Amino acid sequence: MAEYEHTPVSVADKRAVVVGGTSGIGQAIALGFASEGADVVATSRSEEKVAETSDALEARGAETTRVTCDVTDPASLAEVRDAAVEAFGGIDIVVASQGAISRETVVGIDDDEWDFVTDVALDGVRRVTQAFAPALDEGGSIVNISSLAARLSMANLPAYAAAKGGVEAFTRAAAKELAPDVRVNAIAPGFVITPQNAETYAEGTEKRERIDERAILGRVAERDEIVGAAVYLASDASSYVTGEVITVDGGFADSAF
Ligand SMILES: NC(=O)c1ccc[n+]([C@@H]2O[C@H](COP(=O)([O-])OP(=O)(O)OC[C@H]3O[C@@H](n4cnc5c(N)ncnc54)[C@H](O)[C@@H]3O)[C@@H](O)[C@H]2O)c1
Repeated sequence: MAEYEHTPVSVADKRAVVVGGTSGIGQAIALGFASEGADVVATSRSEEKVAETSDALEARGAETTRVTCDVTDPASLAEVRDAAVEAFGGIDIVVASQGAISRETVVGIDDDEWDFVTDVALDGVRRVTQAFAPALDEGGSIVNISSLAARLSMANLPAYAAAKGGVEAFTRAAAKELAPDVRVNAIAPGFVITPQNAETYAEGTEKRERIDERAILGRVAERDEIVGAAVYLASDASSYVTGEVITVDGGFADSAF
């Protein structure tokens, strides 16, 4: 029989930074990586949330370092990078999970609101890549969090949809430039329950019923259901995957009726 060498789907002993990692999907990914044996920096603008999540990372056995960042400020991303390199001796994985949204209409949205969303959701992804790519070791992986809004028509989300479409295009562009040392991929989650949207997606609401009806799996996602895709893309098991967007939506986008 031919030789077969198995690459585990594992981030054990890898060193990760999760931007937007103190809430929602990013926090689940940070805690998931720590549970799988990685060392993790979870960062956002809030010192209190960084401290709270860092305690939880340490409780799972991860090394960490406590540092805040604002993705609209390149200098603060450089500080996170330097702090992670100092704490871990290098970085293997970067996840960009920061979020900003506006529910203004196409006609109604003004420059300030458009710029607020794209500055965090799209330019933020670019700044994260620019800050961390030079510091990533060979075999490095960048994972950007996109959304179904990048490819499905959704009302009242023009800036968010444009930003996420941009994130997916930027992911492919960065994959090409940073190959072969660093792979760049994205995850497009469907509808995921987080503390911020628990009310919007609460059982019995019209929105929840419409999602449950359309998704092939018949329900919204819990945030830990996004973690497996992040572990896969961050691990060596995806060593031949780059410039790709993995949809994790319970079959929502591909469902006809
Ligand atoms: N929840 C969903 O249903 C869903 C679906 C598809 C895509 N997404 C995407 O997943 C990602 C995470 O969203 P979430 O639902 O977990 O939201 P969330 O609000 O719980 O998390 C967003 C994180 O980004 C941080 N953040 C916001 N602005 C920042 C800034 N300027 N600098 C640094 N950090 C900043 C917040 O502090 C928070 O930690 C976002 O990119 C979002 O667009 C979410």
